[in-house]
Amino acid sequence: MRAYLRHPFWQAVGLFVLAYLVIVFVIPMLPGSAMVPSSVVLQYMATVLVGILIWVSDDEARWTTFKEPLHEVLIQPRLKLVRNGLLAAVTLVVGCLTYSQVKASVAAPPNLRSIHPAPPSQITFRGKTITLVGLENPLRKQGELAPHVAEGRRIYYQNCVPCHGDHLDGQGHFASGFNPLPANFQDNGTIAQLTESFVFWRIAKGGPGLPREGTPWNSAMPAWEDFLTEDEIWSVVLFLYDQTGWKPRTWEVTAK
Ligand code: HEC
Repeated sequence: MRAYLRHPFWQAVGLFVLAYLVIVFVIPMLPGSAMVPSSVVLQYMATVLVGILIWVSDDEARWTTFKEPLHEVLIQPRLKLVRNGLLAAVTLVVGCLTYSQVKASVAAPPNLRSIHPAPPSQITFRGKTITLVGLENPLRKQGELAPHVAEGRRIYYQNCVPCHGDHLDGQGHFASGFNPLPANFQDNGTIAQLTESFVFWRIAKGGPGLPREGTPWNSAMPAWEDFLTEDEIWSVVLFLYDQTGWKPRTWEVTAK
């Protein structure tokens, strides 16, 4: 036993096991601490391992003695059983790890949510009631389109670019920080399928204004009603369609 206690290899093994026991069992018992997450345990153990390796290799004689048992297990005929045992154990551990990663999980499927929930038929915009059904973009009937598009471009680049991106493709600088991702207006699944009044509603009310079937999700889309006027929102809607080349969906003409 004495010989084992003095041997650097067994000292290293002992230290390693001790560190593991302290991290997994002793630390959680300290007042005010909780279970250590396994990823943190892994990090600590990696640090401990590096520390131990530095210690054993620090001294030439200690390093040589440290390596002896490892070397013997690999070549000594009398340790054949240990060698085979280790080989089997390593294979088994790798096999189990692989299995646990590929095995089918039984977690519940993610909640389905509606990306384009039905809009309300009316909204209140800064105290004024706006009926969305049948509503067209009023700016299309107010003189030249170009100045309105230019105004929309200014508003877009002042407010929307960090999320929806330079190319209107939802790849703004902040985009990767959000889930769900900012809408990609170039994709045929967003504004290409929507009426301008729907887009107006989404810009005015943002994520907070989504009805229940639009949840659960944490849309980062701000409610712009607090920052932009009605005309400003209509002009940015014009800009989105003009820039992407999509035609807004129109209201079906009902027979008179
Ligand atoms: C903080 C990031 C952020 C900013 C800034 C932002 N958006 Fe969004 N926007 C989002 C996210 C995230 C979504 C997707 C989730 C959703 O639909 O609510 C979204 C969705 C939308 C949609 C819905 C598209 C669809 O298919 O339903 C429209 C329209 C829109 N944004 C327009 C704008 C406009 C116009 C501006 C600038 C005035 C703007 N956004 C600024 C994050 C942002």
